[in-house]
Amino acid sequence: MSTPIEVLWRQALKTFTGRGKIGYKFCQKNFEKLHALINNINADDVKVDKNILDHVENNSAPMCVIDVYENQDITIAIFLLKHGVTLPLHDHPGMNGLLKVISGTVKIDSYTMTTCLKNMKAGDEVIAQKYPSIIAQKNHPACVLNPNDHNLHEITCIEGPAAFLDILSPPYKVDVDEHGIADRPCTFFKLLSFEETSTSSDNDDSSVLVKLKVGQQPHNFYSKSLKYLGPPLS
Ligand SMILES: [Fe+2]
Repeated sequence: MSTPIEVLWRQALKTFTGRGKIGYKFCQKNFEKLHALINNINADDVKVDKNILDHVENNSAPMCVIDVYENQDITIAIFLLKHGVTLPLHDHPGMNGLLKVISGTVKIDSYTMTTCLKNMKAGDEVIAQKYPSIIAQKNHPACVLNPNDHNLHEITCIEGPAAFLDILSPPYKVDVDEHGIADRPCTFFKLLSFEETSTSSDNDDSSVLVKLKVGQQPHNFYSKSLKYLGPPLS
């Protein structure tokens, strides 16, 4: 019998395989099934136990990453944050994603960029819609991002160590072309200022407009790789 992470992995492949090819069509039904499956994943399913969490908390790196699976269409990984650490505000260019907390408590601040900038560079300023913070624990449904909505986020571990499982499609692509431009790089941002209230408060989607500055990954933020100990996916 397949384990829950194998079932999830197969559904991720079914949802996203071929997404870089002409003719690929995003199927909402497949995505909803994937969302339902990831909502039921827990730390046991991917063998994140107390030993691993203690190791993360005592590690010098603020974050550890366990690569679970990657091909040209999807990335599955587990991110583990020490208590009090913030994964800085970053984007997921052109990607769909799911983020499921499996241990600890995190605060997730997500944004939708309203400025369209090609080839962003450090120092550029953009306007984004900021959504209310979400406090998520293992019983919270997976957060969803897509190319046009909630595509940027900052994640703070408020009760740690915390771990979350991420499925992203397509993966980040940091190879550069002859002009030194990466196809799908991860860009980091800094919150500069709040602008104005953009929607009425009679709706839970109330959000504010903010100004963000394109920056570099903070020097003091780095990660260490840990081995995946869960059921093999292949
Ligand atoms: Fe992210």
